[in-house]
Amino acid sequence: MKVNGTAYRSIWLADDGKGVEIIDQTLLPFQFKVVRLDTLEQAMDAISRMLVRGAPLIGATAAYGICLGLRADQGSEALKKMGEQLIGCRPTAVNLRWAVERMLQVLLPLEEEQRLQAAYAEAAKICEEDVLTNESIGRHGAKLIAEVYARNGGNPVNVLTHCNAGWLATVDWGTALAPIFKASEQGIPVHVWVDETRPRNQGASLTAWELVAAGIDHHLIVDNAGGHLMQHGQVDLCIVGTDRTTASGDVCNKIGTYLKALAAADNEVPFYVALPGSTVDWGVDDGVAQIPIEERGQDEVLQLMGVDASGGVGRFSIAPAATQAVNPAFDVTPARLVTGLITERGVCSASKQGLLGLYPEKG
Ligand code: MRU
Repeated sequence: MKVNGTAYRSIWLADDGKGVEIIDQTLLPFQFKVVRLDTLEQAMDAISRMLVRGAPLIGATAAYGICLGLRADQGSEALKKMGEQLIGCRPTAVNLRWAVERMLQVLLPLEEEQRLQAAYAEAAKICEEDVLTNESIGRHGAKLIAEVYARNGGNPVNVLTHCNAGWLATVDWGTALAPIFKASEQGIPVHVWVDETRPRNQGASLTAWELVAAGIDHHLIVDNAGGHLMQHGQVDLCIVGTDRTTASGDVCNKIGTYLKALAAADNEVPFYVALPGSTVDWGVDDGVAQIPIEERGQDEVLQLMGVDASGGVGRFSIAPAATQAVNPAFDVTPARLVTGLITERGVCSASKQGLLGLYPEKG
């Protein structure tokens, strides 16, 4: 995607072929800063502090994190430890584990001296595949938007999304936003309701920023507004991303997604989830009982980041100093509330049968 006319991905190999460059997403939309990662520790820090975030992107960063770690030690024990450390950085998004396991599967059988080059090749492959996968999600999802448009009498299609599942959350294109980018490219007028997504405001700071750059009509709304808009016929469909979807179609995504799905079901608004196959955890059936939910620090709830009238970026407290907060980062939307899953292989029902229809090799 383009930033001020220059094409960017969210992660790329530095010109020297050793370091990795990322966009520091904690500073957007106020500052566009590219950060270079040279060590495993820096990659882990970027994932934990959410300089990079979004399930597919943290998977890609972990893959490159292995490359950076191998620069210091190519031994098997070191490699396994790197994998464990990377997976531990964020517990909910299964793409992190998926990418690490894929890297270890390729690297462990090799001789130590072969590993570094093979690691860079595999990490690059993960990134290339992610781009193609998401573009395909975009094509399938755009058909759903086109169907609504055909019924809408030429009016813009109103899509509500939660958090950021745009290109910044992946290597490129995004998952939930890919259908919106594609539909927009096809000339379909789309208007996006952007949930601000407390506590970190990924909607306000990242999704809105992406939509501004793409020239797509949108309005930012507080997280509590979606239900009201749905009651008044102002949402045609919801599309969100996911950090882990169970084999039976339960969807774990950014905290607040579940409430949107409940409101959508009550108002008969279709609720779609866009995901690559790598986000399905085939070993888990019951999302509420089995998916580990990341608990993040209370400062994310007690403070907001913003810019003041003089342009200074800072953090601002919004609660009494004595107040404590809890900060579960994700929730689980049961499959029964999900209209369909938009994958790179097509759209299916949120069910074991639906998923196995598209991914029969997992049966
Ligand atoms: O905590 P974050 O910002 O990493 O959470 C991201 C989300 O919840 C996204 O919806 C999800 O990772 C899908 S990204 C394509």
